[in-house]
Amino acid sequence: MKCFTPCLVSFWVLFGFWFHSVSSRNLSVSDIKQAASPPRGWNSYDSFSWIISEQEFFQNAEIVSQRLRAHGYEYVVVDYLWYRKFVDGANSNSLGFDVIDQWGRMVPDPGRWPSSHDGNGFSQVAKKVHSLGLKFGIHIMRGISSQAVNANTPILDPNTGRAYEESGRVWHAKDIAIPERACAWMSNGFMSVNTKLGAGRAFLKSLYLQYAAWGVDLVKHDCVFGTDLDLNEITYVSEVLSQLNHPVTYSLSPGPGATPAMAKDINGLVNMYRVTGDDWDKWLDVEPHFDVARDFSNANLIGANGLKGNSWPDLDMLPFGWITDPGVNEGPHRYCRLTLKEQTTQITLWAIAKSPLMYGGDLRKIDPFTFRIITDPTLLEINSFSLNNKEYPYARGFVRSKNEDHKVKKITHSLGLTSCTEYKASGWAAENLEHDLQRICWKGGLENENQKPFCVNKRQLQFKLDRDNTYQEKYRGKNHLVATNEMRLCMDGSPKQKVTASEFKIGTFSPCTLDSNQMWELNSNGTLVNSYSGLCATVNSVEVNANSGGIRSWVATGRNGELYLAFFNLSEQEMTIETTTSDLDRFFPDGGFHTCRGTEVWTGKKIVPKETQGKIAAEVGVHGCAIFAFTC
Ligand SMILES: *[C@@H]1O[C@H](CO)[C@@H](O)[C@H](O)[C@H]1NC(C)=O
Ligand SMILES: *[C@@H]1O[C@H](CO)[C@@H](O)[C@H](O)[C@H]1NC(C)=O
Ligand SMILES: *[C@@H]1O[C@H](CO)[C@@H](O)[C@H](O)[C@H]1NC(C)=O
Repeated sequence: MKCFTPCLVSFWVLFGFWFHSVSSRNLSVSDIKQAASPPRGWNSYDSFSWIISEQEFFQNAEIVSQRLRAHGYEYVVVDYLWYRKFVDGANSNSLGFDVIDQWGRMVPDPGRWPSSHDGNGFSQVAKKVHSLGLKFGIHIMRGISSQAVNANTPILDPNTGRAYEESGRVWHAKDIAIPERACAWMSNGFMSVNTKLGAGRAFLKSLYLQYAAWGVDLVKHDCVFGTDLDLNEITYVSEVLSQLNHPVTYSLSPGPGATPAMAKDINGLVNMYRVTGDDWDKWLDVEPHFDVARDFSNANLIGANGLKGNSWPDLDMLPFGWITDPGVNEGPHRYCRLTLKEQTTQITLWAIAKSPLMYGGDLRKIDPFTFRIITDPTLLEINSFSLNNKEYPYARGFVRSKNEDHKVKKITHSLGLTSCTEYKASGWAAENLEHDLQRICWKGGLENENQKPFCVNKRQLQFKLDRDNTYQEKYRGKNHLVATNEMRLCMDGSPKQKVTASEFKIGTFSPCTLDSNQMWELNSNGTLVNSYSGLCATVNSVEVNANSGGIRSWVATGRNGELYLAFFNLSEQEMTIETTTSDLDRFFPDGGFHTCRGTEVWTGKKIVPKETQGKIAAEVGVHGCAIFAFTC
């Protein structure tokens, strides 16, 4: 342990030296694997919402450089709306306060980012971040801003440096924007661009070449994944990034409704992608990550192929320490509301599921406990280098004081979205009702005939007379889906505001509009496709356990033959969690588990398996965890 910090320092010095010497031999970028292990760093969103200034950013970056870089935290990322002026009337869904250049591209707000004056963009910030030995990341939204579309700015042709011309004319923002694909949760902010048009691709390329020219090392591309999926834009942006000489880590957001099927369409194009709604400091936000992390690990997506390297399901930032509230303009600032056990549980799951670790608290006020848990050397070793990370099915939990752990199970149905190519998406059928009415019902996978099917009523779109006729053309064959005919509430595909991991439910109904988010089309193969995301609706049977999540366990192996075993107590009851050593022998085909020696990371307790009567057990507190590192 004593050697830990000096060893890492010399590691960094050596690494820097190696990097410098090979780069002077013209190492090509393709020789370095991008995101070979889960990216690690700091992001401004949890502690500053959108209003961070250059000064606050550097105060944090300097602390990352001094205290966290030695623990592998290397990215510092400015989260959303860095181009929005922080003035009266501006907020996270306001229109008209953004700084854009003559080509409709976002430029840092010079009021908050003084070094961006004189057309510098973020280049001075990136330079300074690099001088701190760190990498610089920025958040960007899908497509093009409404402000650029309203101003109808010309498109820059990155090949010529002049306005984009094709078919004898100059192309403008309105030619490439798709207003019916405005970001569902920031409807005034951004909309998709048509990547089938040369001008649409030129616009996206002009953005990403500019970010690269500024010296950006990571882009967090938002409103393109989960229920906001925009596969065309992800595919094209990935192509642009893959052609750069300079490696740019490609991160996708947000993640409500993300499924392994959806991830398999993009994992090879990116380096990390969110798999839940936003994670805040509530236990109800932490808990859904257990199922999601298990599903992505079962689909072998942890560390799968990615853009010029690997890709990682991202469980979201760590909202520990001094933070603020979602989407606010200014404070309140407060300490994380998770209990210490819950924070330990969260970092342990994030580590053993190999999620990117992006710390979200304001580092100027980091406390010793938070610093301790985000820099634990065993956890960081597991996060970077462990293998075969999976949920472990052999652990058992015992309620100690009360009656036997009687799990009350009930089944509920929840509407979800998934890739339309999934077989399980084709469970819908239309039924005729009286008075020419039709409803669409989910027939797939009902447990028994007595169960009431999930149905929604089809309603013709009602166009206002003053609406553009092109809408009628665009939405031919599409329908609103309403819960009952009297109600003027239509089924949404994607949440209309940013949602947290616990709030996310699809199948919400909101006042009917002509947003593509509420347009649905029934295909002849029984899939029901949403016009905004191109995803298809499914109905999932969810087993709701009255005893909440019960217990969970994860296992992984280390790069030097270690075995890591984590127990999590998600319940609200007293329990002992244990597994037999013979179950752990599965990881040692030669039957060697009894030769291992272990330490529980959070208590430092030593375990000698051959002295534990065939069991590895721990008393785990409410929402707490234990994690054993065995060297064998
Ligand atoms: C490396 O690249 C530079 C500039 O592209 C070139 O001048 C130099 O000869 C190259 N060096 C080697 C060893 O290939
Ligand atoms: C159903 O049909 C749609 C439209 O033709 C197609 O995109 C989708 O892949 C099909 N899905 C399945 C599961 O057959
Ligand atoms: C699980 O949580 C409860 C609190 O609800 C706690 O009393 C119990 O000790 C925990 N069980 C384990 C195994 O940690």
